[in-house]
Amino acid sequence: MSRRTIQADAELCPELLDRWRAARRIAVLTGAGVSAESGIPTFRAAQTGLWAQHDPMQLASPEGFAADPTLVWDWYAWRRRLIAEAQPNPGHHALARLGEAHPAFTLITQNVDGLHQRAGSRAVLELHGNITRTICSKTRRPISEDWLARHADSRPPPSPYVADGLARPDVVWFGEALDAAVLDQATRAVQACDLMLIVGTAGAVHPAAGLAAVAHSAGALLIEINPETSALTRLADWHLAGPSAHCLPRLVGALGQ
Ligand code: OAD
Repeated sequence: MSRRTIQADAELCPELLDRWRAARRIAVLTGAGVSAESGIPTFRAAQTGLWAQHDPMQLASPEGFAADPTLVWDWYAWRRRLIAEAQPNPGHHALARLGEAHPAFTLITQNVDGLHQRAGSRAVLELHGNITRTICSKTRRPISEDWLARHADSRPPPSPYVADGLARPDVVWFGEALDAAVLDQATRAVQACDLMLIVGTAGAVHPAAGLAAVAHSAGALLIEINPETSALTRLADWHLAGPSAHCLPRLVGALGQ
């Protein structure tokens, strides 16, 4: 099937809705774009993207943390505050409703902001971790909020476990492996799905982006929601060209869910 593009306000074609209703297993992959309308900057937008303004290797790699842990800690503290003040948007809520309505639905996200869960989605597979959790840089054991509050004068706080450890966010940095169990669950979900929805990701970071190719090879129908084209658009059967806070509620409404 060749790709069809549907503009944000155009009618959703009956064939797409029929294919959706016929799907037995649905997998969804989300990226930073789904949180854009909650006021959280994406990574690769030309002017406003986080990686347009900061060097990812300085702020999101083990080497960057070793070189300047205070810089990295302060940057994540700023992002944590931004996320704490943000609210899930209609796109997050629509995905939560889709999950409720469908018996075999897997939501996989590259986002570390926890907004899917705050919108009510359950069993979210977080490929890149969660910024609200903190771990020891050496042992990777969780560090409690209580410990962090008691050591708030240190940026970053020390590890409660080993003398040469520091507190760091529980997110995946460049050069680090994803949690194998989470990646395995995500891979199994996309291998088994007959419909995959890809929302708000540039498809530039692997292995997350590779999940779309796995679903495509397994014969799944692919629907992308993104105002722009992405590295994954060539795999998509339908491209809904608009912001997810607009397109997702429209899709859910058209499906009667
Ligand atoms: P990017 O910033 O690379 O891509 C965001 C995508 O969202 C782009 O394709 C935009 O066109 C699209 N977009 C922007 N606004 C949107 C909206 N309102 N609705 C829908 N889509 C919109 O973010 P990711 O692809 O998520 O990794 O980036 C993947 C990973 O790269 C991140 O998880 C992060 C980063 O380095 C780590 O930190 C490990």
